[in-house]
Amino acid sequence: MTILAIETSCDDTAAAVVRDGDVLSNIISSQEIHNQYGGIVPELASREHVKGIVPIVHAALQEARVSIESVDAVAVTYGPGLAGSLLVGAHFAKGLAMRFAKPLIPIHHIEAHVYSGYLEEPDLVYPSICLVVSGGHTSIFHVKDVSTFEVLGSTKDDAAGEAFDKIAKLVGLGYPGGPHIDRLAGFGNAQAFNFPRGLFYDQNYDFSFSGLKTAVRREVEKLRSIGDDLPINDLCASAQTAIVDVLVSKTMRAIDTLGIGAVVIAGGVSANSELRTRMSAAAAQRGVTFVAPRLDYCIDNAAMIANVAQLRYGNTMSNAAQLNNLDFTVSPKALRA
Ligand code: KG4
Ligand code: ZN
Repeated sequence: MTILAIETSCDDTAAAVVRDGDVLSNIISSQEIHNQYGGIVPELASREHVKGIVPIVHAALQEARVSIESVDAVAVTYGPGLAGSLLVGAHFAKGLAMRFAKPLIPIHHIEAHVYSGYLEEPDLVYPSICLVVSGGHTSIFHVKDVSTFEVLGSTKDDAAGEAFDKIAKLVGLGYPGGPHIDRLAGFGNAQAFNFPRGLFYDQNYDFSFSGLKTAVRREVEKLRSIGDDLPINDLCASAQTAIVDVLVSKTMRAIDTLGIGAVVIAGGVSANSELRTRMSAAAAQRGVTFVAPRLDYCIDNAAMIANVAQLRYGNTMSNAAQLNNLDFTVSPKALRA
């Protein structure tokens, strides 16, 4: 089964071709235009998708050496995300499906992140625990099987990536802030500042990062008011460790409490080097399998959208023909599929 997938939920225009689990192409075009505004401007995001979608889909088909006629189904993200961005991808996919008479499979974006560990490691067993950490989401999932998963907990305020981005801005670094903080933290002392670890001791799977952001802002204001140069590396190292401490501790709490043998991390923040190292060490200590998908399967991408379509309908292509659901609407807010 050959699936062409399209993903435009936020600020990346992405298309991929996946055949029987093999990723033949996975094209991601990140919209640079937002960097100058220090965050994503929704109206600009949808306009950039309009400009990018035709060349990106073309590039995905070309790299895969697949013609649109030979594709068996089109899959597309229906939510959650920015309404305008989702609409561009969904309407383009509907047009393609209609014009070429292909089944159209709407896929939930977070669900695609949740199953991205199985894109990297097709033999990964169920059940698993998956931590999805991005600029928009921070949640822990109990993945029970190919079609069943449960949200164990989520952030009560900012997402972890949002915290990275806001803290980077406070100390004068560019957007997106996560990669800058990751790099500079390597030169800093993580014990220099004792920043708060939100909900660390709460016996649940929820997160809170707004207190950390406020604490960093107060520290920066204090240092500036006494005329000191900002110890940027130490601030980055201390803030990063505060974030990673809670991410690892809550994820391992799920592993230990539910007795699960595999852990997956996904979403843009899962690129963070301290998170990868410490989650890997915590998993090894427990004899638990650890999967951190390659970066282009972690960030927003269309291969993960095709993957869920394949997992669900790969063996039942005849059913996919009945999935020609051109009436679905985008759903900007839904956390759960
Ligand atoms: O999944 P993603 O590409 O887009 C969505 O938010 O949906 O994630 C982007 C987020 C940004 O907040 C960015 O700062 C963060 O991922 N990020 C990182 C790193 N690379 C990207 N955060 C920490 N360390 C990194 N190395
Ligand atoms: Zn995402």
